[in-house]
Amino acid sequence: MTTVSDQELLYFVTALKNHSEYDLTDYSEKSLKRRLQKVLVDHKTDLLGLITRLKKDKFFLNRIINDITVNTTELFRDPQIWHTLRYRILPQFKNRKNVNIWHAGCSSGQEVYSLLILLNELGLFDSAKILATDLNPDVLDQAAKGVYKYRFNIGYLDNFDKVIKENPYNFEEHYEVPYEKYFQVNKTKDTINMNQFLVDKPFFRRHDLVVDGNMMFAKFDIILCRNVIIYFNYDLQNRVFKLFHENLFNEGILILGMHETILGPFASKFEKKGMYYVKV
Ligand SMILES: C[S@@+](CC[C@H](N)C(=O)[O-])C[C@H]1O[C@@H](n2cnc3c(N)ncnc32)[C@H](O)[C@@H]1O
Repeated sequence: MTTVSDQELLYFVTALKNHSEYDLTDYSEKSLKRRLQKVLVDHKTDLLGLITRLKKDKFFLNRIINDITVNTTELFRDPQIWHTLRYRILPQFKNRKNVNIWHAGCSSGQEVYSLLILLNELGLFDSAKILATDLNPDVLDQAAKGVYKYRFNIGYLDNFDKVIKENPYNFEEHYEVPYEKYFQVNKTKDTINMNQFLVDKPFFRRHDLVVDGNMMFAKFDIILCRNVIIYFNYDLQNRVFKLFHENLFNEGILILGMHETILGPFASKFEKKGMYYVKV
């Protein structure tokens, strides 16, 4: 099959915008083309067939959005950033009555549970309020259940040990924390189940960073938006940085993915401190 052309991509994005609540206009073209191509091959259809079905089948629409937007995530993905959170960022909030945290683009929730585990280890669990959003209702359903396949996610156990048991800033320190304190592994059922007290804590809600804009009723101390803006073009990235800037308290903290940076007008409105940004 030939690759998706500029015109075909425009046709797809326009049809989606006109017939659904999704607007992918300002997503990075390269990634969109690649994903659309894969969708067409996987569903053994052409563009016209795909769009016809999208218009009348809401479940199919959500599934395609799922395939087009990348949902990859894991528990304690990139352990370095979790070490930074544990030893550099979260201790700043030790004496605070409330800590408001927003996970934007939380996918199926592993990032949210990672943070909840750290908050609990640091005695900040009760003071934290957690909002976790994504544009895709299917991943949010999974996030709210907190159940993951064991077979595909054995690496979660290694990540847990790395982040929770080791301290890269002080190798003498070692914490014996069994993972059962936070989740249960059932190899027969092939599941990893987050413990109920974690599942009950966050408020999961659908929010599209492109079309919903500012719907927040509170400001945040920390916003995590990791591995999301990498799929957006420069203009959309700037709109999202503006949204985050407006929704952070002064000196609030923004955490992006390991390969994401603030460029353009908002670079001067945030101070980069190693792996995170502080609103100035
Ligand atoms: C690669 S995942 C990142 C998940 C998690 N933050 C992490 O780093 O492990 C990207 C997520 O961004 C979500 N997303 C994409 N476009 C979005 C938008 N416009 N508004 C909100 N979420 C979006 C996708 O649905 C997907 O779940």
